[in-house]
Amino acid sequence: MRVLAISGSLRDASNSTALLRAVREEAPEGVEVLLWDGLKEIPPYDHDDDVVPAPAAAAAFRELVREVDAIFFATPEYNSSIPGALKNALDWGSRPLATSAFRNKPVAVISSSAGAFGGVWAAAELRKVLGAMGARVAEAELSVGHAHEKLDEHGRLVDDDVRQGLREALETLLAEISLVDVAA
Ligand SMILES: Cc1cc2nc3c(=O)[nH]c(=O)nc-3n(C[C@H](O)[C@H](O)[C@H](O)COP(=O)(O)O)c2cc1C
Repeated sequence: MRVLAISGSLRDASNSTALLRAVREEAPEGVEVLLWDGLKEIPPYDHDDDVVPAPAAAAAFRELVREVDAIFFATPEYNSSIPGALKNALDWGSRPLATSAFRNKPVAVISSSAGAFGGVWAAAELRKVLGAMGARVAEAELSVGHAHEKLDEHGRLVDDDVRQGLREALETLLAEISLVDVAA
């Protein structure tokens, strides 16, 4: 099984990306977690450019989403919402609406922030957007507050409770894949 891990942050020392590296460490046998680093390459969504063939980076993103069994998102919170770059990639991924790569795709969302609330509004927004796109939003919920305090200087997760929360979120997502398989 292949799970695509998408961080909503572009910066090298991102807490969100660090949490996804920890998710990868927690993957059970037979589950491959692929960390996607193509977010910055996606051009701004322009309906006039959304033709066949689509811009290469957007087409590659859609193809990758189609190929994987599920997607695990970790997003920071920007102004009580999700970062624009992430929303932009999702806008590309959402088209054409009826047959998009995200339709019926199992997805899980976690969030983090430097503040106390862990980006709960961003997580809620991301779940809303993914639901509107027709993805299957798994019931996983984890918002990591003061995220920088839970990572060491190398960006490695050192908090057992958060690690357990990540493991549970991944398990919930993997269970959602099984539900899709049964329905298919
Ligand atoms: C443009 C911008 C807006 C932000 N808005 C919020 C916010 O609304 N709520 C919050 O908790 N943190 C906010 N932050 C702080 C981020 O949560 C914090 O920088 C976080 O570590 C970014 O995630 P990353 O480590 O994955 O890059 C904001 C940061 C930036 C750069």
